[in-house]
Amino acid sequence: MRSRCIRFRCRSRRTNRIAFATVIVIASSSIPVAVAWAGPSVWDGVYSAAQAKRGQALYAKACASCHKEELEGHGPTPSLAGPEFRDRWDGQTLGDLFEKMQATMPGDHPGSLSREENGAILAFILRSNEMPVGETDLRTESDWLAKILFKAAKSE
Ligand code: HEC
Repeated sequence: MRSRCIRFRCRSRRTNRIAFATVIVIASSSIPVAVAWAGPSVWDGVYSAAQAKRGQALYAKACASCHKEELEGHGPTPSLAGPEFRDRWDGQTLGDLFEKMQATMPGDHPGSLSREENGAILAFILRSNEMPVGETDLRTESDWLAKILFKAAKSE
């Protein structure tokens, strides 16, 4: 009787230790994301000049009627370039922005553009926000875009 009781306590203490260790692992794995982003950001040249140019033409056709030629927005339609736009998306990923476009835009015909077309439009939006051009096109796979941080300014 007595020895079983001791064994039980012993086992329960071990279980607690495992639970505690799990909490530490979960907590520490989320720290690097919050404190320092190891992956690329929109300031690392994540799209090409040719892609942004294609996006500019698509933007004029599908987006400018509401978001306006200079991406300044109008009435209930928000800007897609400038400090206010950059602040709204600061700290999110390019994936968040892309998936929002893919699912809800253009406002009068949601989801009507392909991922390739939205990738080009996003490249044009980045160029319009003075984020630097790179050598290769922005890729449009969700898991790739989710690794790119949208930062309002180049330095922290
Ligand atoms: C019929 C008008 C209309 C058209 C066309 C349109 N939009 Fe929008 N868009 C809106 C409105 C209104 C909002 C604000 C409501 C919302 O966020 O859903 C918005 C919001 C957005 C946002 C979120 C902005 C932010 O900072 O929160 C993005 C990004 C965007 N639109 C991209 C696009 C792109 C890219 C196109 C073209 C493919 C497009 N929109 C076409 C009306 C439009």
